Amino acid sequence: MITTALTELFQIARPIVLGPMGMVSGGRLAAAVSNAGGLGLVGGGYGDEAWLRTELSLAKEGTTLPWGVGLITWSIKRKALDLALDYRPDAFLLSFGDPRPYASAIKAAGCKLICQVQDVENALIAREAGADLIVAEGTEAGGHGGSRATLPLVPAVVDAVAPIPVVAAGGIADGRGLAAALMLGAHGALIGTRFYASAESLGHERARQRIVAAQASQTARTRVFDIVRGFDWPPQYPGRALRNRFFERWDGREKELADAVGTEGPSYQRATREGDFDTAVVWAGEAVDLIDSVENAGTLVERICAEAEELLRAGAKLTR
Ligand SMILES: Cc1cc2nc3c(=O)[nH]c(=O)nc-3n(C[C@H](O)[C@H](O)[C@H](O)COP(=O)(O)O)c2cc1C
Repeated sequence: MITTALTELFQIARPIVLGPMGMVSGGRLAAAVSNAGGLGLVGGGYGDEAWLRTELSLAKEGTTLPWGVGLITWSIKRKALDLALDYRPDAFLLSFGDPRPYASAIKAAGCKLICQVQDVENALIAREAGADLIVAEGTEAGGHGGSRATLPLVPAVVDAVAPIPVVAAGGIADGRGLAAALMLGAHGALIGTRFYASAESLGHERARQRIVAAQASQTARTRVFDIVRGFDWPPQYPGRALRNRFFERWDGREKELADAVGTEGPSYQRATREGDFDTAVVWAGEAVDLIDSVENAGTLVERICAEAEELLRAGAKLTR
C-alpha cells in the first residue's frame, strides 16, 4: 500500500491517475481505473456535448469510487463545463491554458480542481487559481505538451507550489516510473499512453496495436495533425504522436498544409473514420518502449503499484 497526499486527497487506494485522453479515456476506462483504486478521468477533450453525456454516464454508472473529467482549457465552452459538472465528478482536470476563469465554478460545485502544467510559470498560475492538485507534464508525454523534460520539471514544480501536492506525468508506464516520480517529490503518476493500450480504452484496435509495436524513436512532436483537423492550438503545445505516412509527407511543410486543408481535411477525416493510421493520428508518448501488450486497466493499475512498492522497499536497502 502506498499512501500519499494524492491518495488522501481523494480517499483512493492507489496513487495513479488516468490521463484524460480526449476520445480515448471514455467512461468505461475511467471507471475501470477508479475501481482498481486509482482516479479515473474521462477525456472530455474539446467538449463535444453528446460524447460527454454518453461517457460521463458510463463513468458514473461504472463506479461508486471517486472519478473525474478533463477538458482542454483554451477550447472550453461554458456549456460543456456546466454539463460535465452536472454529473458530479469528484475531480476536474484543466490543461493547456489559463484555468483561472473556470476555477470558481468547479470548486463551487464541490469538485476538486486539478491543473496540468508544462512549466513552472503555469504551475504558479495553477496555484493562484486554487488548484487542489497540480500535474507536472513532461515533454515525453503522449498528446499535447510543452518542452520541459519530466525528470527536472517535476521537482521544480514540487518546490514552486509546496505544499500543494504534485503528480508526475510523461513517460511513466510501469512501477519503475511511479517509484521514480515519488522520489522526485511527486505524490503519484498520471498515465496516458499505457492506458491507451488497455482493453477498456476507446482507442481503435489498430491504433492500440501500433502503440504495442512502436519504439519511442518513432514518436515526434508535431502540429501537422492539428493543422489538418482545423484545431487552432496555441503554438507552445505541439502534440507527441507516432510518425506515420501523413506526418512524413507534411513535416516541415506546415504552411503548405494549412493552405491545402480544403482538400486534405476531408480525406484525413475519412481516414480517421476508417481507422487508417497511415494517415490518422495516434497520439502516443515515449513510454511506448515499455508497452508490449494490450491489458485490462485494472491489472495495469495493480501491477504498476505492486512493482513500485517492491522497488521502494528494495531501494531502502541501497543505503545500508
Ligand atoms: C491519446 C492521448 C490523448 C490525450 N488527450 C488529452 C486531453 O484531451 N487533455 C489533456 O489534458 N491531456 C491529454 N493527453 C495528455 C495526458 O493527459 C497526459 O499528460 C499524458 O498522456 C502523460 O504522458 P504519457 O502518455 O507518457 O503517460 C493525451 C494523451 C494521449 C496519449
